[in-house]
Amino acid sequence: MKIFVYNYREFDEAEYFQKFSQEYGVELGISKDAPTLENAHLARGYEYVSIITTRIDRALLEKFCEYGVKMLSTRTVGYDHIDTRAAKELGIHVSNVSYSPECVADYTVMLMLMSIRKMKRIMQREEINDFSLPGIQGRELPNFTVGVLGTGRIGRAVIRDLSGFGCKIYACDKHENEDVKAQAQYTDLETIYRECDLITLHMPLLEDNFHLIDRDAIAKMKDGVVIVNTARGGLIDTKALIEGIESGRISAAGLDVIEDEFGMYYHDRKSDVLSKRDLYILRGFPNVIVTPHMAFYTDQAVSDMVKNSLLSCMYHAEGKEDLWAVV
Ligand code: COI
Repeated sequence: MKIFVYNYREFDEAEYFQKFSQEYGVELGISKDAPTLENAHLARGYEYVSIITTRIDRALLEKFCEYGVKMLSTRTVGYDHIDTRAAKELGIHVSNVSYSPECVADYTVMLMLMSIRKMKRIMQREEINDFSLPGIQGRELPNFTVGVLGTGRIGRAVIRDLSGFGCKIYACDKHENEDVKAQAQYTDLETIYRECDLITLHMPLLEDNFHLIDRDAIAKMKDGVVIVNTARGGLIDTKALIEGIESGRISAAGLDVIEDEFGMYYHDRKSDVLSKRDLYILRGFPNVIVTPHMAFYTDQAVSDMVKNSLLSCMYHAEGKEDLWAVV
C-alpha cells in the first residue's frame, strides 16, 4: 500500500519511517512541509495520508477529497487540529495514534517539581552568580494534594508516578478507571478546585472543555495553586491565567502548551517578530515555565508515532479493526 507523509522529519523520524515501511511493505511519498491548499496535490494518488498537528480545515479536507484521499492519520494523540465534523461529512476517515505515555508523564512530573522548587529562578540566578537564598525556598510534593484532570493513559501514568512521592491524589474523569482507584480518589471538579495545591491537565481538547480553566474556575481554586498543563493550550483561558498569576492566586505554572501555537512550534523563529503577546507575558513571569510543546519528544514516542500511524492506515486498508479510528 501507499501512504503520503507530510511534515516528514529527516533528523528524527526518517529512520523509523524506513524501518517500519520496509517491515510492513508500505510505499511512502514524503514532504517536509505541512499540508496546505497549495501542496495538497502531492497526495494525489495516495488514499492514505499521515500528518502531525497542523491545522486541517474543511477547505483542505475538500482538496484532499478531490485528490482521492480516503484517510488521514495524525501521528499525534490529540486531533483537535482536524475539523473532524467536516471529515465525517466528506467521508474521510481520521485516526490518531497512541505512544508511550511515559514521555508526557515524566515531563509533567518534571514541570511540577521545577514549579514547586522555583527552578526557573534558581537557574536564572545561577547564570549571574547570584547564589542567594531569599525568594527561592521551595515546597515538598509529599505535602501536596494534587488534582489530576483526565485519567486516560497519560493521566494514569502521572498518577502512578506521583504515588511514589506520597502526595494525596484526587482524579477527575467522566470515565472512571478501576486501576486508578488504588492510587487516587475520584472526585468532582469543585472538590479538586477547593482542595488541591496543584492541578495538572491530561484531557483531550473538545468543544465542551474549551477554556475549562477560566476566571470562575480559578476563583474557586485554593490560594497559591500551581497549574501544570501538558495537554492542550485551549483548556485554559490564557487571559484568566495571566490575571490569576498577577493576583497571586496562582503561585506557579508549568506550561508545555499554550493557546494559538499553530505555525509557531517546531520551527526556528528566533529572527521573527512574533505577534504572540500572551506568550511573552507568560514567559516574563519568574514563576511560570513555558516550554514549546515538547513533552512528547522522546525516541520511544517518535518511533511509536511513526509505527502506529502506518499501522493505523494498514488496518483500515485491510478492513481490520483500527485501534486508533476517530472518525
Ligand atoms: C500529541 O501527540 O497530541 C501531542 O501533543 C504531541 C504532538 C504535538 C507532536
